[in-house]
Amino acid sequence: MCIFAPMKTNVNLRPYNSFGFDAIAKYFVEINAINDLQTLIRSGELKKHKTLILSGGNNVLFQEAVFEGLVVYINTKGLEILSEDENEVVVRAQAGEDWPDFVRFCVCKSWHGIENLAHIPGKVGAAPVQNIGAYGMELKDSLLQCEAIAMETGETRVFTKEECRFGYRESIFKNELKGQYVITSVDFLLKKNAPLNLEYGNIKAYLEQNGIENPTLQQLHDAICAIRDSKLPDVKQIGSAGSFFKNPVIDREQYEALQKKYPDMPHYDEPNGKVKVPAGWLIEHTSPSALRQAQGPQCSGTSWKGWLDEHVGVYEKQALVLVHYGGGKGQDIVELAQRIQDSVEAKFGIKISPEVNFV
Ligand code: EPU
Repeated sequence: MCIFAPMKTNVNLRPYNSFGFDAIAKYFVEINAINDLQTLIRSGELKKHKTLILSGGNNVLFQEAVFEGLVVYINTKGLEILSEDENEVVVRAQAGEDWPDFVRFCVCKSWHGIENLAHIPGKVGAAPVQNIGAYGMELKDSLLQCEAIAMETGETRVFTKEECRFGYRESIFKNELKGQYVITSVDFLLKKNAPLNLEYGNIKAYLEQNGIENPTLQQLHDAICAIRDSKLPDVKQIGSAGSFFKNPVIDREQYEALQKKYPDMPHYDEPNGKVKVPAGWLIEHTSPSALRQAQGPQCSGTSWKGWLDEHVGVYEKQALVLVHYGGGKGQDIVELAQRIQDSVEAKFGIKISPEVNFV
């Protein structure tokens, strides 16, 4: 076999997953150029192994100590302006570009459209897969199109925004075409002048507290970074995958019944008449003993929030985030997540499901 990128064996994936779990990849190849990926595909090598395409590793949970297959780590770099006029710019980012760096770059250039997605760990190529979203903005709002390579043939295909079939943390790449394409670059349509979106949650409160009346694009970006830092763990210090669960969407009837019992339960009305409920709130308001499980060593037992097992737990500042304090294994998170899901369902009758990909 002749490929440009050398294939390594028995590579520890700890630096490649933000949970920081040890998992050995039987085979591992790093892709620094799209041609190398196409050569790899056309060599037939992917068909010989169970294959995992790995980007930033910020949304994966390695359940086993060994991944008995081939990990293809996408690390292509490059930014290119495709077109520009006085109002807007189309910029192409290669899949392996760091997402927070890319957002920072666009903000420095005064290009609007992705500033509320600041500081989300990950790489550009993974962003469309789950249509990353935060603070009232989603990737789909500024994505023009993306380019991907078919894992079967190595052929390039362009997906328009419509073809990506975006939804809340959803896209065609997670559903109908799961495992069939590798996103290689994303084109963004960004505005040179646009109103800032300050509506979500505590952005306004944060700006007010800091004496900022009419924020600039840069000030909004920095505010979002600070708000995230105050609520989410720094993955360099504590392993996590950001939000572990998706916010569930329930029928209005069920919401109204729950609302009578729990008048403080936050909620967001969905366009289809259903209601989205924050999973973080449900988890915070469920106790580990809802299922009469043994209590953790350092937990009052009144809420999952701040729960600590030996190596893993529920982050003390945000119940939606499961954390790995070191020395644990993927199965510890799998088991904890299951207990949380079961107890939330027992208390509220709502099934919450992981946003994180189990490998
Ligand atoms: N809440 C609690 N307890 C908690 C956490 C949240 O009661 O421990 C309540 C909050 O008080 C608030 C509501 O839940 O009323 C929503 O919380 P928050 O605004 O923090 O947002 P979220 O729904 O928990 C989502 C995204 C985050 C994103 C934030 C900000 C999902 C699954 N998560 O979280 O995305 O940063 O909104 O826009 O939609 C990620 O995907 O990794 C991620 C961090």
